[in-house]
Amino acid sequence: MFNGGAIMKKFMWGGSISAHQSEGGYQEGGKGPAIMDYVSFGSHQQMRQVYDEIKEDVIYPNHTGIDFYHRYKEDIALFAEMGFQALRISIDWSRIYPQGDDEYPNQEGLDFYHCVIDELLKYHIEPIVTLYHFEMPLNIVKKYQSWYNRKTVDLYVRFCQTVITSLNNKVHYWITFNETNHLDLKGKYSNLFTYILTGLKPSEFDNIHEFEARLSYHMSLASTKVVELAHQINPQNKVGCVFGITPFYPKTCHPLDVMRAFQDMNQDLYQLDAMTMGYFPQYKLAEFQEKGVFIEISSEDKLAFAKGKIDFIGINYYCTEVSSHIEIDEEKALFGGYSNPYLEKTAWDLTIDPVGLRYLLNYLDRKYHLPILITENGIGLEDEIIDGKIHDQVRVDYLQKHIDQIQKAIEKDYVDCIGYLMWGPIDLVSATSGEMKKRYGFIYVDKNDDGTGSYQRIKKDSFYWFKEFLKSKEYE
Ligand code: BG6
Repeated sequence: MFNGGAIMKKFMWGGSISAHQSEGGYQEGGKGPAIMDYVSFGSHQQMRQVYDEIKEDVIYPNHTGIDFYHRYKEDIALFAEMGFQALRISIDWSRIYPQGDDEYPNQEGLDFYHCVIDELLKYHIEPIVTLYHFEMPLNIVKKYQSWYNRKTVDLYVRFCQTVITSLNNKVHYWITFNETNHLDLKGKYSNLFTYILTGLKPSEFDNIHEFEARLSYHMSLASTKVVELAHQINPQNKVGCVFGITPFYPKTCHPLDVMRAFQDMNQDLYQLDAMTMGYFPQYKLAEFQEKGVFIEISSEDKLAFAKGKIDFIGINYYCTEVSSHIEIDEEKALFGGYSNPYLEKTAWDLTIDPVGLRYLLNYLDRKYHLPILITENGIGLEDEIIDGKIHDQVRVDYLQKHIDQIQKAIEKDYVDCIGYLMWGPIDLVSATSGEMKKRYGFIYVDKNDDGTGSYQRIKKDSFYWFKEFLKSKEYE
């Protein structure tokens, strides 16, 4: 089992982290200010705040992350000990071009990523590199209005060219964006997510429809350009894009609920259509027009879409939600739907739905016929240290059940799934809440929400479980 994969010889097991949530060292190595450096600590109840300047009395958790910047060797050794075959990292744009539009790249930034990748290769861990995981240089927001301005497409392509060329032959798997689809998120995090993705605040734009359309068009276009570029630099490069997809189930079998569920799920997929079909979908352009927004697609852009089709789809899967065509007297769930009464929830209100992952894998496989890499999945828990140990059986159960469903998707449904990268294999700063106590890792990091702690790494029970699990896979 788990041998599938049209573009890979072997199913890839491993984990996934991002630069801004793990590195810290926010003023080291020539790094410039980036959008997430200005976002405060929050909590499940209290939204993270975005500041225009760094204030003394505010905690900015990304400034220190988990200090991966200095401790990456120790962390990678732990991943290797578990038997990881792949690690997804991201490159912080603001380490390479501190202002985004600098004349030359910052060599110290490139050197840092060379060191990280060399360390991975030393242990035969395949680096999978995301080129944009919420890490935009702040100057691009201030000077050009981020993805609202087409100029940002060029700046991003130049950044990617520098990175892909520099790491050529060391990295073969590239991801253009993490979760661009969350631009038009409907739930309570929608404003925060728009900021996290673009550094922009929707409230500062008069025409919200035009705002969303331009942002998403420019990001989709940028992705296609980078796919083509990466293929030109090295025809062996495989390039994907990551989507955070929440499957929606109809609340009832009322046809309008079914229709609504289809629409809610589909809202996340038009950019994926644009990146796989070879053109920006006509139905989305028509929808933009209905809202008074006209996107001119030049012949140059048309060519970019035609040439820049992705090689694989990355999916981040955490939960499912429920759609209803009538308003229900219930608090809306995170992604704008409702909760599912058949499912348990995490302490952060996400449903736990392993079957939903099998459903999603099938849905995408049958629609796109492309290899699928699970780039994120995991559970945030408040772990407790008892006598120096962390007994996180809940995490083990969660992961085991999700992996069982992946196995079914591959073996019974013949889905072309090529790997499973667990999110946050080492505890890191939560993207939505900024907390440390929302822990995903196999490895505990002794850092508290207020930034205090020794940053010591401690293996949780799940660490040993995953190590044994991966050992058992070696002989299959
Ligand atoms: C994904 C992001 O949406 O969810 C990650 O790609 C993020 O960056 C993950 O960390 C989990 O969300 P959170 O808010 O629990 O960190």
